[in-house]
Amino acid sequence: MATDPAQARIAVIGAGLMGHGIAQVFALAGHAVTITDSVVASLDAAKSRIAANLRDLGQDETAVTRVQPCVGLAQAVRDADYVVEAVSEDLPLKQKLFAEIERHVRPDTILASNTSVIPITSIMQGLAKRERALGTHWWNPPFLVPLVEVIETQWTTPEAVAWTMKLHETAGKKPARVKKDVPGFIGNRLQHALWREAISLVEQGICDAETVDAVVKASFGRRLPVLGPLENADLVGTDLTLAIHNIVLPAIDSRPGPSPYLQKLVADGKLGFKSGEGFRKWSPDEQAALRAKLVQHLKTVRD
Ligand SMILES: NC(=O)c1ccc[n+]([C@@H]2O[C@H](COP(=O)([O-])OP(=O)(O)OC[C@H]3O[C@@H](n4cnc5c(N)ncnc54)[C@H](O)[C@@H]3O)[C@@H](O)[C@H]2O)c1
Repeated sequence: MATDPAQARIAVIGAGLMGHGIAQVFALAGHAVTITDSVVASLDAAKSRIAANLRDLGQDETAVTRVQPCVGLAQAVRDADYVVEAVSEDLPLKQKLFAEIERHVRPDTILASNTSVIPITSIMQGLAKRERALGTHWWNPPFLVPLVEVIETQWTTPEAVAWTMKLHETAGKKPARVKKDVPGFIGNRLQHALWREAISLVEQGICDAETVDAVVKASFGRRLPVLGPLENADLVGTDLTLAIHNIVLPAIDSRPGPSPYLQKLVADGKLGFKSGEGFRKWSPDEQAALRAKLVQHLKTVRD
């Protein structure tokens, strides 16, 4: 591993939605970045997508010159200090990819997967040098959402974790250390605990989907950017938190699997934006307006 993470040469495998954005972040932070994709059109589009993002964000467009597209995997990873994959969410594909990557990199090159939900342990178990492998879970869009969860397995060395945390910190991200390789890591466990109860409220006829979202946005959603749940629990008192949990926890949804209500939506083809209806109906204009509002908000609150 390069001694100074700030000087690290980065290789990004997969130039899709996440990969091109991850490459952009590292290039903007001054790193030399190689990027590859098995689909030529994806690779060809990477630099223009990055340039357009930088322009839109009012950031240094010349950063794109530090991104070098490579047609072959070997060429992309050969000189890298750090390799991060953002290929399709498919376990055998990722396992095969890392086996191939390991044949072309130095023994101390750090290897990272940006998987959303596949255990890092499953992806990395076949490697010869598992101690330099870990997960780095970015959030979309990578250049606007600050968090990167850094997930260690039972084999990852503390040095590899510390180096990777530093790499992301100096690139302007907010890395969070995940000490156990558990499904959903930290962020998605919290997010989907909330979604489970949100769906349950609708399923039970307590309110409609619009009301769930309105309640979140007009109440604790307002405070969340400055007051995390455990800061909030300390603020109101752990004794009050315990009293509330004694009453509320037995009442909220604790079923282990997906809600039947959600399963029926999917079975009925109500897939959300992609079909025009999910928990509620979405016209193309409403979809575009919500997406635009989200990006505008993320730009406003970026550090
Ligand atoms: N989309 C999100 O919000 C999000 C958030 C966090 C993590 N992730 C994870 O990031 C990864 C990528 O997701 P995405 O949304 O960017 O997907 P995507 O489909 O936009 O991009 C994946 C890219 O990988 C390429 N690819 C597939 N096999 C390859 C191979 N063998 N070698 C090189 N390139 C290959 C594809 O051609 C494609 O361009 C997935 O593991 C996903 O779960 C996604």
